[in-house]
Amino acid sequence: MASIRVDKWLTTAGYGTRSEAKKLCRAGRVRLNGETVKDAAKHADPAVDVLEVDGELVPYEPLVYFMMYKPPGYVSSTEDPRDPVVIELLDEEDIWRDVFPVGRLDKDAEGLLLLTNDGPLAHRLLAPKRHVPKRYFVRVRGALGEGDARALAEGVVLDDGYKAMPAELEILRSGAESEAIIQVYEGKYHQVKRMFASLGKRVTFLKRISMGPLSLDPALKPGEYRRLTEGEIEALRAYDGRGER
Ligand code: URA
Repeated sequence: MASIRVDKWLTTAGYGTRSEAKKLCRAGRVRLNGETVKDAAKHADPAVDVLEVDGELVPYEPLVYFMMYKPPGYVSSTEDPRDPVVIELLDEEDIWRDVFPVGRLDKDAEGLLLLTNDGPLAHRLLAPKRHVPKRYFVRVRGALGEGDARALAEGVVLDDGYKAMPAELEILRSGAESEAIIQVYEGKYHQVKRMFASLGKRVTFLKRISMGPLSLDPALKPGEYRRLTEGEIEALRAYDGRGER
C-alpha cells in the first residue's frame, strides 16, 4: 500500500478535519510506531505502520460518503422485511463498506440521502441540538399564502401537541395545487407532512434538496448516487449546524 500523510490517515479514520488532525499532532497526542509525530505531513504506510491517538489504535478503514437521489418506493434503511431498501441501489463494490443512510426519508418521499460508514459524522449531523437545516421541495393540495408562511415561521403545533421549531416557507406557486420550498431545522417523524397537515394541507410530493452544506446534485436521477467530492466531505466535517437555539 502506498504511504499517505498522517493527517490524511486521521481524517479518513474519522478524526475530524485536516486542521483538527494537525492540531492533534501538534498537541503531541499522535504516535507513529511508538514515536510522537508532531508533523502531520509525515508519511506512513497503513499496511505496516501503527498509528495511535492518545494510545488508541487508529484503524485504516477508509470512510466513504455517497450522495444518493433516493427514489420513491424505497425505505431509508439497511434492511426491511417487506419493502426494497436504499442499500439495494448500491453497486456491488460499494455494498461491503457497510454504509447506512444518515437520517430518513419516508418511503414515498424522494431526494437527497447521504450514505456513509462514518458513524461519528452521522451522529453529529443527526444530533437534534445541532438543528441542521434541511430544505424540501413540496407540492400540496390547496392554496398557500403568506398566512401559512407566518404560521410556519412562528412554529405550528403538530397533531401530538408538539410545537414545531420555526421554519421558512418560500411559495413558488399557489393554486388548487401549490408548490413551495420549506426549510426545517429538525427531523421528527413525518415532520414536513405533519407541519402542512396542521395548516390543513396535504403534501402530495416531497423531495429533499439539501441538508446542511450538502445539496442534491441536479445531475443525479432518481436511484442514482455518486461519491461526495473532497470539498463536500470537508464541508460536512467542518459543519457545526446552527448551534443551540
Ligand atoms: N418530512 C416528512 O414528512 N417526510 C420526510 O420524508 C422528510 C421530512
